[in-house]
Amino acid sequence: MRVLSGIQPSGPLHIGNYFGALKQFIELQHKNEAYYFVADFHALTSVRDPKLLREYTHDVIVTMLSLGLDPDRATLFVQSDVPETTELAWLLSTVTPMGWLEKCVSYKDKIQQGLPAEHGLFAYPVLQAADILLYDADLVPVGQDQKQHLEITRDVAERFNRVYGGESEVFRLPKPYILETSAVVPGLDGRKMSKSYGNTIEIFDEPAVIRKKAKKIVTDSTPVDAPKNPETCPLFAMFALFATPEQRAQMDLRYRQGGVGYGEVKGLLAEAMIAHFEAAREQRRQWLAQPQRVREVREAAAAKARATARVVLDRARVACGVGS
Ligand code: ADP
Ligand code: TRP
Repeated sequence: MRVLSGIQPSGPLHIGNYFGALKQFIELQHKNEAYYFVADFHALTSVRDPKLLREYTHDVIVTMLSLGLDPDRATLFVQSDVPETTELAWLLSTVTPMGWLEKCVSYKDKIQQGLPAEHGLFAYPVLQAADILLYDADLVPVGQDQKQHLEITRDVAERFNRVYGGESEVFRLPKPYILETSAVVPGLDGRKMSKSYGNTIEIFDEPAVIRKKAKKIVTDSTPVDAPKNPETCPLFAMFALFATPEQRAQMDLRYRQGGVGYGEVKGLLAEAMIAHFEAAREQRRQWLAQPQRVREVREAAAAKARATARVVLDRARVACGVGS
């Protein structure tokens, strides 16, 4: 199967990005043909400092490599290195009803957070559909918040196929790949962990920062001795992500019986998190020391991604009648 996904370089990546997306990227690279990219065109809707955008883009590539994405297995490229993307986005936008974009939750959310109502933000899902359809992707690993964008992608593909398809289909219909156990990772305040809520623990936060942030995770005021409900506790949900099944079952029992204090769980969580990313932290030091190697990975991947993209874009151009 062909797997494809992207992540915006709008800041350092956090553990919601890791469990919701990156971990699946790494697992899926082994048995599939994988394409992963840094969505810098998308990030332009929120990052307006060119130097920062370049830094974040580099940082996301380095983060992916440090966590175990293997450039010999997966094609790890930058979205803007494939200009075919924006051409396809235009072709798709000509068959996308306004109403589909108007009902998008992520657009409405961002406007509510105070972002200006710009066309790029509004048309964001069309660009995302282009990202996906351009590579004939079968499977798209993402967190729950991207489900609606995947539905729009399928709807746009079907509509283009219907309008222009004739005998053969122009676009392959992709499926989302969303793991139930990590679809929504909670943040420090119990809401979804997100850069825009300022409630994140970053993958490469220093150990001292991780310990400090863990202490801030919201909990209720149930006394140590009293039984607690693991199912409604964001601290438990985070602990569960890093625990083995046995540790998880044991903590579940201790919650229900009473006798475990939130302070103890926070300490255990911080240490588990630090240990979990220790090897990646070392890899990151090595990749950061080799910017030229990162550049080579990026260039080789762009060439491969463009070759794949060209074939699909030409198919779409022929189907709708542009070009000769
Ligand atoms: P953010 O919300 O912090 O801006 P992005 O929108 O850049 O994060 O997300 C990149 C990827 O990580 C997407 O696939 C998204 O679904 C996933 N993701 C982000 N936050 C979470 C979370 N809290 N839980 C699960 N997945 C998440
Ligand atoms: N919109 C996604 C996010 O915010 C990033 C993204 C852009 C993406 N293009 C994509 C994800 C294509 C999957 C496939 O997380």
